Amino acid sequence: MIPRETVDLILDSAKIEEVVGDFVTLKRRGANLIACCPFHNEKTPSFYVSPSKGIYKCFGCGKSGTAVGFVMEHESLTYPEALRYLAKKYHIEVKEREETAEDIAARQRSESLMLVSEFALKFFRDQLKTPGGQVGYAYFKSRGLQDDTIEKFGLGWAPQGRSNLLDAARAAGFKEEYLVDSGLCFRAQDGRLMDRFYDRVVFPIYNVNGRVIAFGCRTLKNDKTVAKYVNSPETDIYQKRVTLYGLSHAKSEVSRKDSFILVEGYLDVISMHQKGICNVAASSGTSLTVEQVRLIKRFTDNVTIIYDGDSAGIHAALRGIGLLLEGGLNVKVVLLPDGDDPDSFSRKHTREEVEAFIDANAQDFIGFKTQLLLDEAGRDPIKRAGLINDIADTIALIPDPIKRSVYVPLAARQLDIQEDLIFQRIKRTRERQLAEKRREQERAQEHGHGQDAPFPEDEPYMEPDIDPDSYVGVPLQGDPLVDVPEMAPCEKDLLGFMLNSGRTVLEFPPDSPYRLPDGEKITVAEFICSVLEQDAEQMRNSLMRRVFNQYMDLYDKGLSQEQTSARLLSDPDAGVRALCEDLIGMKYNLTVKNFEASLTAENTTLVTYVPRALLLWNLRRVELDIKEQTRALGACIDDEKQAMEAMEKIKELNTTKNMLANKLGRI
Ligand code: CTP
Ligand code: MN
Repeated sequence: MIPRETVDLILDSAKIEEVVGDFVTLKRRGANLIACCPFHNEKTPSFYVSPSKGIYKCFGCGKSGTAVGFVMEHESLTYPEALRYLAKKYHIEVKEREETAEDIAARQRSESLMLVSEFALKFFRDQLKTPGGQVGYAYFKSRGLQDDTIEKFGLGWAPQGRSNLLDAARAAGFKEEYLVDSGLCFRAQDGRLMDRFYDRVVFPIYNVNGRVIAFGCRTLKNDKTVAKYVNSPETDIYQKRVTLYGLSHAKSEVSRKDSFILVEGYLDVISMHQKGICNVAASSGTSLTVEQVRLIKRFTDNVTIIYDGDSAGIHAALRGIGLLLEGGLNVKVVLLPDGDDPDSFSRKHTREEVEAFIDANAQDFIGFKTQLLLDEAGRDPIKRAGLINDIADTIALIPDPIKRSVYVPLAARQLDIQEDLIFQRIKRTRERQLAEKRREQERAQEHGHGQDAPFPEDEPYMEPDIDPDSYVGVPLQGDPLVDVPEMAPCEKDLLGFMLNSGRTVLEFPPDSPYRLPDGEKITVAEFICSVLEQDAEQMRNSLMRRVFNQYMDLYDKGLSQEQTSARLLSDPDAGVRALCEDLIGMKYNLTVKNFEASLTAENTTLVTYVPRALLLWNLRRVELDIKEQTRALGACIDDEKQAMEAMEKIKELNTTKNMLANKLGRI
């Protein structure tokens, strides 16, 4: 373990431009450096490095982070591995924290289990070349595998007889204890040791670092009384729920393509790899786990799941995807033609055909599910009502309010209902989910255990939530304003202006309606603040509000823009940190207008776009109020006086709305 002081020293020493510069050729542009993004294919550079902020950001694919994050991403390393890499680069001596005797014992034990597994892998692989193993070799050949593929995945043969591996391992000096604890052998009732795997072809299973930790063994018999697969049991080095088959072979390609393909079985993975499609791994026949989702997120946010086209395949598609959405991943689904699985399909077609098929048939998951349920519900009104809730609840799983708000109009159109119905349901569901989460946390604390730590070795540190999408709000008790998706995009724009140019003075031209009397000066932050004060909450989305308050606090203390950024980027609140990383990542990619313009002529564009963003904010706020009043109106059918008042308010708000929309149209 690396001591805290050393970690700090490494983080302080690592210069983003030097670290990134080792992998890509950077060109200077103003205060920043640019390059073609190493994480996705592009011809014109949209990858920015900011030496002063110590971060990189790609405006093409959206990847961003610090120097450590870059090394993790680019080299597919864990956090501690990336730190060691940087330490080496900057000649910093890493004196690992003194391990306790227990640490050492555990590490040595894991190492021993991996060593005996490695021995077994070699043993099974060599068996494939013996006369007894011919049948296994012929089987792999019959499934279309080439020699180099068999070699690459370490495929093998477990011979007949109950102590072949056992005898070989003993002769090589391996302790019985490790043979048992690795799951390779087990003790029979009479106390004798026996091989677990015999008379089967062998698929070694690797951890994410490429070390063998388990085996899946398939019988060649067509006999229903013989189990098709015998797999390693759970051991200290193998836990099925934290493993994805093939990931170590796939991870660098997953990062490079920024996309991951999930399939079901061993041969699906192997056949796709043999075709040259290498960003593929398998969940091994079960639905995904939280840990597997975290594993995927280390390499990409984009997941495409390929299913068999039969109805079992289609229904499998609906299960387990909730976790991916909750993890903030973008999920697409591809259904293969009926009767095919990725293995058979990739064998029948060329690489180009397989890729073209995936491209053409990848459907966004929410749209896919909506269509599927719609088809099933037919004209049955009760089923249709249920399915609206089902879809809304699925959208509610997505942590990013902005992404959620993109799905609502799409789903509303598909379901042919009002967006508002979906929004309301989402809001209720999220409030319920948050309340449940809180209760769970409280319960966990009462029982004295915090979160579980599922990774036995090599805990994949998640860069402090670089992605604001992965943010799930924390202290939200009784807060009715939690997540207001309608407001999030425009509030985010305003924060983007504040965090990047908050102290810039706005030079309004003489004829501008915003010009202060006597040409008095006003900064971007103060200007935004003065308008936002119209709203009691200033920002309605809770995360945005936290960042806003935090920023203004630092602004009022007189901190410089750089100091403010530095503070925000190390804020104790993970949500604040994540959003700021995104916003401070060079010029925030404004939704109002492209950021290139804002780079070239900063002040002229600020003078135009800040007021515009504020108008938009105002408009959204008014629209939201109209929605609330309309709801209130619906609730007071019996009270005529109240109803009149509500209608009056709606009328007023509509006038304001039209005025704002008008103004916006003119700018
Ligand atoms: N699987 C497993 N253990 C089992 C059954 C299945 O690990 N007891 C996993 C394997 O990864 C397997 C996948 O689930 O590849 C799919 O199972 P199945 O469709 O039964 O097997 P295939 O490998 O596709 O078999 P086949 O050779 O018939 O194509
Ligand atoms: Mn199969």
